[in-house]
Amino acid sequence: MSFEKNILCIGAGYVGGPTMAMIAYKCPQYRVTVVDIDPERIAQWNSDDLPIYEPGLEEIVKAARGKNLFFSTEIEAGIRESEIIFVSVNTPTKTFGAGAGMAADLQYWDKTARQIRKYSKSNKIIVEKSTLPVKTAQAMERILTSADNGIRFDVLSNPEFLAEGTAIKDLQDPDRVLIGSTQTPNGLKARDVLVEIYSNWIRRERIITSNIWSSELSKLVANAFLAQRISSINSISALCEKADADVEEVARAVGMDSRVGNKFLNASVGFGGSCFKKDILNLVYLCRHYDLKEVADYWEGVVRINDYQKERFILNMLNIMFNTLANKRICLFGFAFKADTGDTRESPAIFVAKRLIEEKARVVITDPKALKNAMKDLESIAGEIAYVEDPYEASAGCSAIAVMTEWAIYADLDFKKIYRSMAKPAFIFDGRNILDHKKLFETGFNVFPIGKPGLTHF
Ligand code: NAD
Ligand code: UGA
Repeated sequence: MSFEKNILCIGAGYVGGPTMAMIAYKCPQYRVTVVDIDPERIAQWNSDDLPIYEPGLEEIVKAARGKNLFFSTEIEAGIRESEIIFVSVNTPTKTFGAGAGMAADLQYWDKTARQIRKYSKSNKIIVEKSTLPVKTAQAMERILTSADNGIRFDVLSNPEFLAEGTAIKDLQDPDRVLIGSTQTPNGLKARDVLVEIYSNWIRRERIITSNIWSSELSKLVANAFLAQRISSINSISALCEKADADVEEVARAVGMDSRVGNKFLNASVGFGGSCFKKDILNLVYLCRHYDLKEVADYWEGVVRINDYQKERFILNMLNIMFNTLANKRICLFGFAFKADTGDTRESPAIFVAKRLIEEKARVVITDPKALKNAMKDLESIAGEIAYVEDPYEASAGCSAIAVMTEWAIYADLDFKKIYRSMAKPAFIFDGRNILDHKKLFETGFNVFPIGKPGLTHF
């Protein structure tokens, strides 16, 4: 069967896999291939046990796989045969050399550009899907055109705004799709090809276009604004705890102003995920690079408050549990960085587990989807850590439960049964404010939510 377009995606991760599955599912007339250097990941994409957990993903992968959606390690063939190449390789924070701990590590990106140049035999549109510093498209274009072999490469920026846990919904019905291009005739022509792909299922007014640098920068700024809201409400949660105010009541009152809006105002133990911290630090680095010290300091504050919130959570536990956690069993309810994902990257639970071990506590971790990743995250930590899937079994004999992830199942547990099985006095630290605090208190627990006065029997 011949297809209208051959689309390739390099990088079969949390972004590459779901985004390409959605394009293939919505556009049977295109052939979509996703390649990766990691053969194990590709084997999982081709199996019944997909490498990532995302509600609704399995259904669309199964509907398109083998028809017009293919997962492969054949990067060379993939590049040769495609007209459009999405690049969604990882762009973590650099851990070495200049900009270590701040700048984006572009080695995977650079390597991909060189592979595309090496194996291309015909003109191609290259789409930046990964989140990148401003002006990366220019660097990519320079690498691609340096071979001087007569092949045209048009580089577009098309950042991804999906959130994990709701990726399929976000891809199916996005608030917007952003496409940045150079404003040259070739750049605009390439842009229109990508607009056409998305127009298969997304209303035209939701597909916005811009110059390429605005598009690259918008992605960093969107994540910075989202994270800033969380740090703003988390900073106020600390004040609420001192001032006997209730952060949820404050958030509701503030968020009902339509200029502010009510989303993303849930106080928590801190934000996690692979991107918020990395992208803000990337923005900070960029500002410092351009000598904008005040702007850099302003955004760095968002990360500082997040670190403060996580540390505050641990210090509260320590203080409330009579200034020692040594030998106490503490159960973490949830390890994923948010609900409905098995992803644990930058999860506040990693920080909390490590700090508890430093305090010589015995840690028990339960999570419906993230235990495998939790084990990997903590494998180098010497200390007593147990991984137990069943939350009743996990919390039995523990002195405290700390809610790390807002999994809906935790709100529906039989806490009377849990209370009976725990060491006394029993504590609950609700790092997500998802439990019924009054009811827990009446059951016998000492309850400490985020940004609200604690309910204690002492
Ligand atoms: P990921 O680590 O899950 O996936 C990246 C994949 O790229 C890995 O499987 C890796 O093996 C592969 N890879 C690296 N170098 C390669 C190469 N040279 N050739 C082929 N494959 C290669 O990362 P992710 O979470 O999918 O994120 C990818 C990008 O998308 C990042 O820039 C991130 O900031 C951005 N982003 C992520 C999310 C998210 O929710 N995770 C959302 C929006 C944007
Ligand atoms: C975030 C953005 O929401 C996406 O738009 C973006 O594409 C993505 O980053 C990315 O670039 O990787 P994600 O990290 O998957 O998506 O999940 P979010 O829903 O944004 O949650 C991030 C963290 O903030 C989680 O730990 C979550 O629990 C926490 N959070 C979120 C709060 O603590 N309070 C809130 O009110 C909202």
